[in-house]
Amino acid sequence: MTQTPEQAAQKPLTLALSKGRIFEETLPLLAAAGIEVPENPEQSRKLILPTTDPGLRLIIVRASDVPTYVQYGAADLGIAGKDVLIEHSAEHPGGLYQPIDLNIAKCRLAVAVREGFDYRAAVHQGARLRVATKYVQAAREHFAAKGVHVDLIKLYGSMELAPLVGLADAIVDLVSTGNTLRANNLVAVEDIMPISSRLIVNQAALKTRGARLQPLLDAFARASA
Ligand code: ATP
Ligand code: PRP
Repeated sequence: MTQTPEQAAQKPLTLALSKGRIFEETLPLLAAAGIEVPENPEQSRKLILPTTDPGLRLIIVRASDVPTYVQYGAADLGIAGKDVLIEHSAEHPGGLYQPIDLNIAKCRLAVAVREGFDYRAAVHQGARLRVATKYVQAAREHFAAKGVHVDLIKLYGSMELAPLVGLADAIVDLVSTGNTLRANNLVAVEDIMPISSRLIVNQAALKTRGARLQPLLDAFARASA
């Protein structure tokens, strides 16, 4: 059933985000806007969470699904890592407005190899590297810009395993403390880019619900500066 413009204007704003670090690091930003979230998605199995602001509700989705919910307008706005946004925009160019770097969930995207693997020599010799990653688009752009020939192998997680069992020479993965690399005898050999999470906004919502959205965008911008 289609909604009248009046009904659409009444609906609460919907903010899409993933549980875990993004949810945890978003709570202080919401608090700065005077908004609390009474339920914790780690304990509750609910996927739609009310907030203390009747005009705002949260939906809990996989990190890599956040841009999809926002792009199609099922959520008015969302919070997603730059890593996720790069991969999403490769398949769905345009369509998402990214007004604010929230400076949360900070890490970096890097190339890593097994300790003892001579990455520089391999690159210098023009060898064709096998690179396993969840971040195919970012990896493709990085190696193309360097003129390094790579065969990319798409994985969905636990990339650190790939060089240890001969699936790949290198991985492209997120690094924060470096503990995961160290625990698996891997070393970072090249930084690709710093990563943080961004607020993303549905283009149509910005036009039709701008007056409702703006105070929240302003509060997020102030809290993350
Ligand atoms: P999915 O559930 O779709 O597979 P995911 O497991 O990568 O995604 P999270 O681990 O919650 O989801 O990560 C969410 C975002 O947090 C990532 O997209 C990235 O931007 C950032 N991130 C990932 N790992 C770290 C880390 N170790 N430290 C800081 N930020 C990180
Ligand atoms: C992320 C990432 C690395 C790890 C890096 O995984 O994929 O494996 O963090 O962080 P570190 O340098 O501090 O060890 P995460 O902890 O999110 O687990 P996941 O792969 O299950 O998402």
